[in-house]
Amino acid sequence: MNNLKKLSRRKFIHQSSLVMLGMPLLPGTFKNVSSSDKVRVAHIGVGGHGNSHVRWFNALQDVDIVALCDLDKKNLEEANKRLHSMNPDAGKTDLYTDFRHILDRKDIDAITCATPDHWHALIAIMAFQSGKDVYGEKPLSYSLAEGQAMLKSLEKHNSVFQLGTQIHAGENYHRVTEIIQSGYLGKIHTVRLWKTGGSPGLGFPKPEIPPDTLDWDMWLGPAPYEEYTPVRCHFTYRYFLDYSGGVFGDFWCHIADIMFMSLHPKGLYSIESRGERPYDGIADAPKWIDVDIKFDGLDVFWTTTPPAVEGADQMHIGAHFEGEKGSLTCDYKTCVIRIGNEVLNDIPEIPRTIPRSPGHPQNFIDAVKSRKQPESNLVYAREMTIPMHLALISFRLKRKLKWDSINEKFIGDDAANYLLSRAYRSPWTLPV
Ligand SMILES: NC(=O)c1ccc[n+]([C@@H]2O[C@H](COP(=O)([O-])OP(=O)(O)OC[C@H]3O[C@@H](n4cnc5c(N)ncnc54)[C@H](O)[C@@H]3O)[C@@H](O)[C@H]2O)c1
Repeated sequence: MNNLKKLSRRKFIHQSSLVMLGMPLLPGTFKNVSSSDKVRVAHIGVGGHGNSHVRWFNALQDVDIVALCDLDKKNLEEANKRLHSMNPDAGKTDLYTDFRHILDRKDIDAITCATPDHWHALIAIMAFQSGKDVYGEKPLSYSLAEGQAMLKSLEKHNSVFQLGTQIHAGENYHRVTEIIQSGYLGKIHTVRLWKTGGSPGLGFPKPEIPPDTLDWDMWLGPAPYEEYTPVRCHFTYRYFLDYSGGVFGDFWCHIADIMFMSLHPKGLYSIESRGERPYDGIADAPKWIDVDIKFDGLDVFWTTTPPAVEGADQMHIGAHFEGEKGSLTCDYKTCVIRIGNEVLNDIPEIPRTIPRSPGHPQNFIDAVKSRKQPESNLVYAREMTIPMHLALISFRLKRKLKWDSINEKFIGDDAANYLLSRAYRSPWTLPV
């Protein structure tokens, strides 16, 4: 039944007539949106980054943006104006303040989601249930249990998911992966990841009455109730652990991505965070956080200041790979390789074997049509996000934790296991 929903309208009519003519359908063909059809997309959460989604998807030839949704009418109307000034030929775009109206529509193939993190999993799962594919923002989910539920739901509904880590699609991450995987630097035993700058405390503002344009209760959604203050809401919500993971949670996925893409580390067995909350306000995400992570055969260190390796202090964010024969330091766009006294930006003899992405949004739309999972698919995204969840739990509990990566449970620590999920505020429930 779900597969039927994924049929394009034109293809449905065509295939129905084939069935009437007594011609059997191949199982795979049922799911395909015809490659000549436009994919009908709705954008949910069009405050800050959601506008990049609108801009990127508007630029794709095989996409029609048919609806926008935001629970803040001001952001919704501004995003709609921006879309139509960018593309005067854009068709009628329906505007909604409740995403469930989008999910009810049978003529929408895919959604993008750029809401705050505490909504990511619920909106994605409800979208999968309604037969829609999802381009969802990082981090994948607020809790580890949500990521597990997303994967179960994706598999059940045969959906397509792309995590919004658009840097993954760039040339640099593909090239770094080829260099690391070539073995030129020998076995990589250590990776150092960093992002400078920590989360601010945001002062001690008094609660206020939410603006008329904003549905504050819906904004909180499954998160614990709190009275409204502007700092808890748009953009700065990311500095509250009730909704997000601060600067660490914001950037982990972007830079850990190059480590997962090139090394696919497995068997995480220990994690230890050290850090501090800000003193100067109600926000509680780490002012700084350092994390030691041990995988089978790989030590990973996250720091809030650059590591003591050459060139790192020039980079706000970066990854440094240490191998038996050399090292590689990179960020989103640059790469420096050091072998003995040699300093290189590339090793041309290493062949370019990894297919390049047509761009993250296009890679997603291609996947919607082909029913093959895109580059930052949910299985990959979930593996990459697990250390982020575990590090924030270690930060909250202020202790080193042992992890059973097969059963996805902490060993001998009930409190840590309790924090792998969060009870939802009524009436929201995490679908299972
Ligand atoms: N991939 C990237 O490079 C990148 C960059 C920035 C932000 N992000 C991610 O995008 C997401 C949004 O971040 P932001 O900075 O744009 O936040 P923001 O607060 O500026 O925008 C979020 C918007 O979502 C709306 N919203 C909240 N809950 C909603 C719901 N249930 N239904 C509909 N609308 C809802 C809000 O009203 C707001 O307009 C975050 O998860 C963030 O991590 C990704």
